[in-house]
Amino acid sequence: MPMSDAESSIDIDRYLSRTKALDLSGIDWSDIRQAEVSSDVWTVLDYMRAVEAHTIVFPRTIFSARAVNDPVVGPFLVSWLYEETFHARALERFMAAAGRPLGATGPPLSFRDRLEGLGTSLLSLWPQFLALHMTWGAVHELTTLLSYQRLSKLAGHGVLSTILDRIMRDEAKHFDFYFQQARERLQRPATAKVTRFFVDRLWKPVGNGVRPLAEMRTVSGILFRGPDGREAARRVDNTIRQLPGFADVRLFEAWLLENVPDSARGWDEATARPLA
Ligand SMILES: [Fe+2]
Ligand SMILES: [Fe+2]
Repeated sequence: MPMSDAESSIDIDRYLSRTKALDLSGIDWSDIRQAEVSSDVWTVLDYMRAVEAHTIVFPRTIFSARAVNDPVVGPFLVSWLYEETFHARALERFMAAAGRPLGATGPPLSFRDRLEGLGTSLLSLWPQFLALHMTWGAVHELTTLLSYQRLSKLAGHGVLSTILDRIMRDEAKHFDFYFQQARERLQRPATAKVTRFFVDRLWKPVGNGVRPLAEMRTVSGILFRGPDGREAARRVDNTIRQLPGFADVRLFEAWLLENVPDSARGWDEATARPLA
């Protein structure tokens, strides 16, 4: 049976009680040198920082009345937005401590954001819109989590890894919420079918519309390069495939194959081995 909001298996009061600012205690900001970080890592950091900072536009775009008024999703979004706010600030602080200038963040609310806001308003006329919102959120949080894992490994920088570990704890918590909500809301086959229809046609990786496509491709190539990168992308897809109606969905791995050149990616469709 499809669940109603009242039947959600999430204890929202308990969830809210765990909302907190990112813990930055014990981090030695005075000992971060720009030279210890490769240009690839700076490129990724600047991208992630811009994406995290952009979260603040969401109340005016993807926060539909349906989401805000939901007794579980509404309070969650307040908690989520609060925690996300600290992620960009932590990355900015790391960059500033290394003397690294920040790239442009773009206008706080772009024309594209307004369009997305309009699209969200239209989609949210569908009574089961939250199934789509929660599925979308699950894919985004998981991709972000895997991206930070890859970044931490790529950078090999102790202080940065400590910061990213703490951010990843938040992202994992957010993912759990979205995924659990999506699984419950997709129980009804008709809802799953419509949600899948929109995901197949509209989904793009995190950062779409925030930074140019060329930069998105460059950053994805850096983070998901080589067989390990492919495995990480597959982890995103295989996890989302556990949702009702999503068993054969093509998401991140397919996007990488179509959008990042073989030479930057280092793996191709025919084989899981790295290219020679
Ligand atoms: Fe975040
Ligand atoms: Fe998150």
